[in-house]
Amino acid sequence: MDRDQLIDLTRRALKLARDNTTDLAEKQHTVDAREYTSRERHERDRAMLMSSPQLVGYASELPGPGSYCTKTVMGRSILLTRTTDGTVKAFDNVCLHRQSQVVTGCGTAKRFTCPYHSWTYDNTGRLVGVPGREGFPDVTLKSDGLTELPATEFAGFLWIALNPGTHLDVAAHLGDLADELDSWGIGRWSPLGEKVLDSPINWKLAVDTFAENYHFATVHRQTFATIARSNCTVFDSYGPHHRLIFPLNAILGLEDVPEDKWDPFQNMVVIYALFPNIVISVTIANGELFRVYPGTEPGRSITVHQNSTPLDLSDESVAAGAQAVFEYAHATVRDEDYRLVEALQANLESGAREKLVFGRNEPGLQHRHMAWEEALSRL
Ligand code: FES
Ligand SMILES: [Fe+2]
Repeated sequence: MDRDQLIDLTRRALKLARDNTTDLAEKQHTVDAREYTSRERHERDRAMLMSSPQLVGYASELPGPGSYCTKTVMGRSILLTRTTDGTVKAFDNVCLHRQSQVVTGCGTAKRFTCPYHSWTYDNTGRLVGVPGREGFPDVTLKSDGLTELPATEFAGFLWIALNPGTHLDVAAHLGDLADELDSWGIGRWSPLGEKVLDSPINWKLAVDTFAENYHFATVHRQTFATIARSNCTVFDSYGPHHRLIFPLNAILGLEDVPEDKWDPFQNMVVIYALFPNIVISVTIANGELFRVYPGTEPGRSITVHQNSTPLDLSDESVAAGAQAVFEYAHATVRDEDYRLVEALQANLESGAREKLVFGRNEPGLQHRHMAWEEALSRL
């Protein structure tokens, strides 16, 4: 994002903070409680995710030719590799023999040997070795291989399509946001690992917790709210995606500072809601990524939380500090947001009330749900 745009957003955020208000949607909005509880909606949600490009990690997780990483996406184990020419490839991490996972974790390897009976694949997915070859007359080395999924590196992130036959067009998917996302460089920062939350909440309830800061003053009273404004958000939508600016309390200090002296990043957090299940949070030292997936039933979801940093992690104390910040952010989501909405999920499932209300002051929340509705109507 260029400085002019950052200054413009800071100006908007400062005005909202000064006026003690927030960007507002046109009207209140209601959604049906069954959106979070019905099996039918759950299956349609899963189909929506299956048919959408999936951001699965940072480009820096495949730092060079020969590197690989594994991901779990919608319950599926995926192997991503960077081949000799730098191309990113993705495969179902499922052995052709008896479907063992071929590899776990991440690292550097040009060949992968299945831990069960040692069938071996190269990093373009081709089967290159079968011990006891005479047992498998119908298997052809080099032409048989792992099931390849469409994959690419775009805007600094790794993307896949879960349906092997799909055309993966991330540029079309991101539209006007592509250059802006790329410009942060967070996908090229050093990755700090993954933390997984397997939670008794619908995946949309998990996503909802990131779509407004109206709850900061109560839920995060002792944590985020000590540094960030509550119920104060700059909102902009980009097709099915949106961007929120959460101003920090310090922003009011800019009143008496000339604009050319402003350091926008000391005064706000930038949140991207990417359709349909991705949240990215950018600050000066953290590029957090939340990948949220429907679980095996409507009331369960998996959140994979990642973080990246521009800091030099070769210094041990810097690395330890970066991990501590990641742990703090993760604990806040786990122990404050998700803990609270677990009881909310139970209320929804009890059938006590039919509707939920989204306020005019929750435009991100409204936008998320409208984008999902729109996509579901086209499935
Ligand atoms: S399952 Fe992979 S070699 Fe047997
Ligand atoms: Fe929160």
